[in-house]
Amino acid sequence: MTELSKPSFSTEIQPADTPGALGQAAELLSQGQLVALPTETVYGLAADARSHEAVSRIFEAKGRPAGNPLIIHVDSVGMARDCVVTWPSAAAQLAKAFWPGPLSLVLPKADLIPDIVTAGGVTVAVRCPVHPVMRGVLAKCSFPLAAPSANRSTCLSPTRAEHVVDQLGGRIPLVLDGGACAVGIESTVLDLTGVTPTLLRPGSISLGQLQAILGAVESARPVTDAGPVKSPGQLARHYSPRAKLELGDVPAAAIGEASEGTHVIAREPAPPAWPSERWHQLPDNPEGFARELYDTMHRCDQHGAEIIRVQPLPDTDEWAALRDRLTRASTGK
Ligand code: TXA
Ligand code: MG
Repeated sequence: MTELSKPSFSTEIQPADTPGALGQAAELLSQGQLVALPTETVYGLAADARSHEAVSRIFEAKGRPAGNPLIIHVDSVGMARDCVVTWPSAAAQLAKAFWPGPLSLVLPKADLIPDIVTAGGVTVAVRCPVHPVMRGVLAKCSFPLAAPSANRSTCLSPTRAEHVVDQLGGRIPLVLDGGACAVGIESTVLDLTGVTPTLLRPGSISLGQLQAILGAVESARPVTDAGPVKSPGQLARHYSPRAKLELGDVPAAAIGEASEGTHVIAREPAPPAWPSERWHQLPDNPEGFARELYDTMHRCDQHGAEIIRVQPLPDTDEWAALRDRLTRASTGK
């Protein structure tokens, strides 16, 4: 684990629509500094992807293990192609269908990208985000940005600027505040370096949507913490709130004696006996549920929740990314 840097900045939080805010961010990034900024999925912690020194600051600020590679953000297929050595027809088809948007493609790395970005690996993940703030900053920089989610390593991803400040305040110079993220969970990660495209991380772009474009797409084998992993971010325990997360229905018998510290996340209204401030009803559709999930878990943590109990989600492809995140967040604590 990279040691967490000591707080040494007074972190500025700048509304992204303040005149000059995007220019200020681009200036800092050009100087090799870090800036947290919104994307459509979650907030990212950006640095100049071409600079070993700038990218090393990301690992320090997050306390991220050096073995976990970063996603590179680009503003066009042209910029993506500068970061990789091949651009197979599958990449071209997917970029046409889903870019700009929440899809990261793993391809062989070009020399432009230093080894620290890919954790020494020969492949690199690239994605072209749709969020206007990220796009605006990329346009001003005109170089690719490495950006993991702007949280401390293994913690919950941020979907609002306040979540970033909670976790990284004092460790970075600037957060651009662009409000809440529209998608709310991290991008779909697809490996295009093997014989068959392989889904490494499910996201709002589903396996079915990828198969509709490419035909065969494999799902990465079930995650364990043992043995080599194809995508280190797939290590089981990840994306965790401070509270213990449990998956399962709330037994009717337990409702009357609900312990003080238990919060529930469900898709239906609270039963009459349950204290309403500890019952969080989220939309009964994957898009709406994803948009609100992390923010709700951050709020549970702020209320001092000891246990967050999440009612099971439907066993269908469109809910797969959410089941993945919740299963990981409930592992190992
Ligand atoms: O939506 C997102 O992807 C957000 C926003 C900020 O763009 N970023 C994000 O980054 O979630 P991060 O670092 O939290 O997650 C990156 C994931 C990890 O699971 C990592 O292991 C995987 O992508 N990854 C990155 N490069 C890879 C590579 N070359 N091969 C396999 N997996 C890779
Ligand atoms: Mg992350």
